[in-house]
Parts: sequence; structure tokens; C-alpha cells
Amino acid sequence: MAEVPVIAIDGPSGAGKGTIAQKLAARLGFHYLDSGALYRVLALAARHHRVDWDNVEDLAVLAEHMDVAFRPKGAGEPPDVVLEGEVVTEPIRSEEIGHGASRVAAYPEVRRALLARQRAFARPPGLVADGRDMGTVVFPDAPVKIYLTASPEERARRRHKQLMEKGESVSLADLAERVRERDARDATRAVAPLVPAPDAVVIDSTGKAIDAVLKEVEEVVAARLGGRAARR
Ligand code: C5P
Repeated sequence: MAEVPVIAIDGPSGAGKGTIAQKLAARLGFHYLDSGALYRVLALAARHHRVDWDNVEDLAVLAEHMDVAFRPKGAGEPPDVVLEGEVVTEPIRSEEIGHGASRVAAYPEVRRALLARQRAFARPPGLVADGRDMGTVVFPDAPVKIYLTASPEERARRRHKQLMEKGESVSLADLAERVRERDARDATRAVAPLVPAPDAVVIDSTGKAIDAVLKEVEEVVAARLGGRAARR
């Protein structure tokens, strides 16, 4: 069987990966994997089942067996995330669950338990995979690897805007501090630290409009995939 083309988009939170990856997947007609959502769902599932975020053994079992599905909505719209029959798209986006996701993601046992699930998303005609270790660990042979980043200040500002829109009030200074803390934890953890793959193209989205970033990403995709990624 011909290899399924995988486009790995990694980088810190707030760099714009989710938006870019979803738009790109819709333009190409590819599947989309939001790997961060899996870690977030796991943190929420642990809450539901009264499993502590540092109980590695039970977390790994949950990671392997939890009943989670991504239910597609309209093209270009993020899919609904369904945990044990319940739509959890909104609850998994809270700051608290984001913190839990980052905690559970630090365990090698948890990451291992989620590997097969993530790889199963690579189906024809192709996949856009969004995360931290898509190009380094989950899809090391991906023909296209992009590392999307932005300054910590800009990422905190974007997150602040999102939270305000949702009615959650958090101070910008607190958020900037948390962005730095999470970056440090993600970059220095023993397994799958957040670093660009050696063959990744690094794109900095600071101060750029979404469409401008998407254009840069599409140029990389066209150069690396050629005819395999004919736009629909
Ligand atoms: O991208 P998102 O903010 O939804 O990810 C939540 C957390 O899950 C991140 O802070 C990171 O710690 C973890 N994560 C990860 N590996 C991925 C995706 C997310 O460790 N591939």
C-alpha cells in the first residue's frame, strides 16, 4: 500500500497550530489529528474516574482503553470531542484541564499508551497531525514537518483573548507566567520534549496574520509533497 502522507505540525501552545492545521487539512481534504485533545481528554477522564493526575499506572490503563471519538462537524470546523458518549469539546479547553494534560503528558507510560491511537489516524488520502512530538516521535517518517512557534508574550496575548471571549477572566501577567512555566515543563521533560525535529521547517507566527502563516506552510507542503497534496 502506498504510504499515507503525513504533515506533522508541532510547536508550543498558542503558536496557532490548531487553526493552521485545521485549515490546511480542510484545504487538502486530509484527516486531522489534534493530539493535545487526547491528553486533555485523558486528564478529564481521570477526573471522571477519580484517578489522580500522578497515578501513572491507572492513567496508562485509562489512556489505552478510554472511549474517545472525534466527531467531524463542518469542513474547517474543529471536530467535536466525545468521551464515553458525552460531548466534551468545551470542558477540555479549560485552563485547569490544560494544566492536567501537561501533567499526565509527562509520563512515558501515558505517551506510550497513546501512540497506537495517534498512528491510527494516518489514513488515506493523508493526515495533518498537530501536537508537540508529531515529527519527532509519533510520525518520525513524515515527509512534511513544520515547527510553528511565536514569542511567549504573543502566545499569552492570544490565549488571553480566547479566554476573555469565553468569559474566563485571567490576568495577562498570570497567563504569561503560565505560558513560560508550561513551555519549560514541555521542553525539559525526559520523554518527547518539545523540540523541533532536525528535518522540520521552523516558522515563527509572531505578528503575522493567519492567512500569511497558512501560505508559508502551504509552500513548504507543496515543496515537500508536490503532486501528492493537490489542493481540493
Ligand atoms: O495542544 P494542547 O494545549 O491542547 O495540549 C495540551 C498539553 O498536552 C500540552 O501542554 C502538552 O503538555 C501535552 N501534549 C503533548 N504532546 C502532544 C500534544 C500535547 O505532550 N503531542
